[in-house]
Amino acid sequence: MRRLLNPRMMVAGAIALFALGSSSTAAASEVPAAPTFTKDVAPIFQAKCEACHRPDSMAPMSLKTFAEVRPWARSIRARVADRQMPPWQIDRGVGIQKFKNDRSLTDDERLTVLKWIDSGVPQGDPKDLPPPVSWPDDQGWNFAAQFGQKEPDLIVKSEPFTMPAMGQDAWDHRPTLSGVTEPRWVRAIEIRPTTVKGRRITHHAIAYLEQEENGKPMPGGLGALFMEWAVGKQGELMRPDTGKLLMPGAKFRWDVHYSQAGEEITSQVEMGIYFYPKGEEPKYRTMLSLVPAALGTMDIRPNSLSLAEGFTVLRDNARIESFQPHMHLRGKAMLVEAISPTGQKQALSYVNDFNFNWMTTYVYADDVAPLLPKGTILKVTAWHDNTAAKESNPDPNQWVGWGDRTVDEMAHAWINIVYIKDEDFKVEQEKRRAMTMPQQ
Ligand code: HEC
Repeated sequence: MRRLLNPRMMVAGAIALFALGSSSTAAASEVPAAPTFTKDVAPIFQAKCEACHRPDSMAPMSLKTFAEVRPWARSIRARVADRQMPPWQIDRGVGIQKFKNDRSLTDDERLTVLKWIDSGVPQGDPKDLPPPVSWPDDQGWNFAAQFGQKEPDLIVKSEPFTMPAMGQDAWDHRPTLSGVTEPRWVRAIEIRPTTVKGRRITHHAIAYLEQEENGKPMPGGLGALFMEWAVGKQGELMRPDTGKLLMPGAKFRWDVHYSQAGEEITSQVEMGIYFYPKGEEPKYRTMLSLVPAALGTMDIRPNSLSLAEGFTVLRDNARIESFQPHMHLRGKAMLVEAISPTGQKQALSYVNDFNFNWMTTYVYADDVAPLLPKGTILKVTAWHDNTAAKESNPDPNQWVGWGDRTVDEMAHAWINIVYIKDEDFKVEQEKRRAMTMPQQ
């Protein structure tokens, strides 16, 4: 029987390294002595909560005005104190800490909110209130505005699907043709349920790409993934000079997972694709890969904790773009480490409080996205908690195995990998050195 190691202990080395790096640059605290809503808290909520907490959006209540916020003070305190809100489960003491899409509160922001609630939720002077943020009316395409477009270049939809009010989970695997007639390089992708109501039944959506390259079917399995979407996820923006390739006749095979929501809802999923201009070919091709801790079999006993680990060798030099842990209701924690060909181990990311509702993709910032030489082993460790201590656990007395259904378990990371040839890899390493060198 395998001993359960505490992930914190396993990555102690990484913690020490991180602490060294950050202590010298730690800024003085900017937590106000007597925070008020209008002056100190409203700007934080605008920046970090309103994206989801505004009228007619995905969250259960709006947090725009003092009147709206006041009744939720106690609940906000609890969720902010244990870092459940905003949803961001990265351990702040392990591995890489710079992300492109970090929506978490800084330590100062978090302390400001807590201090404000603990000192009686004072409203403050209305004159201090920042101007309101204007949000788009509908759910919008995130990247369209960024690219100066109204809509994505191509929108591909899955077939409409009706989920009954009560019923077993269902999967829709029907394919859709892309309609692409010439090779096109993709620079951004978004997937979303077509309606706000659809978000209530759509657990995740994966688009597998099926196409021929050089007269042969694209290699199946890992490389064939195009895009994966789950609740709370926005989209995928490729790094400069990086893209995904669509070939003429390309077809998307869907894997859309629907769950009951207590009322009958018909929905579908739409994928917005943004192309590089014709003739502009990015240097690097990126692929979303399933990197397993376990695949096909798991053995999780009732009322116990379990650990699974998997080792995947990189077939070429690579840049790791992003990481997303995938587990189900009993998922507790996941650690991704890189073991170099010379044996050094580095913790890349550790999610210490996995929450099934929030399948966040953590996108590494440009100057920290790991550059790993050919032959590096990606080690993925997953912990599952099949005890009553895990809040989302539907029944700790059940044995649980590997499988698709929400009540089964899974244990893998989705990792966006860009493979890079030797010469270019040296160039990338040089660029990185220049980027991270201390300024004179
Ligand atoms: C990415 C979207 C998103 C962001 C950003 C976000 N929330 Fe939430 N929040 C939700 C959703 C969805 C729920 C309901 C599901 C859940 O509890 O996970 C929720 C639930 C909550 C709850 C629990 C409500 C209850 O029923 O008791 C509180 C409190 C909360 N959020 C506060 C905040 C605060 C404060 C912020 C910003 C500092 C924030 N949230 C940022 C989406 C978000």
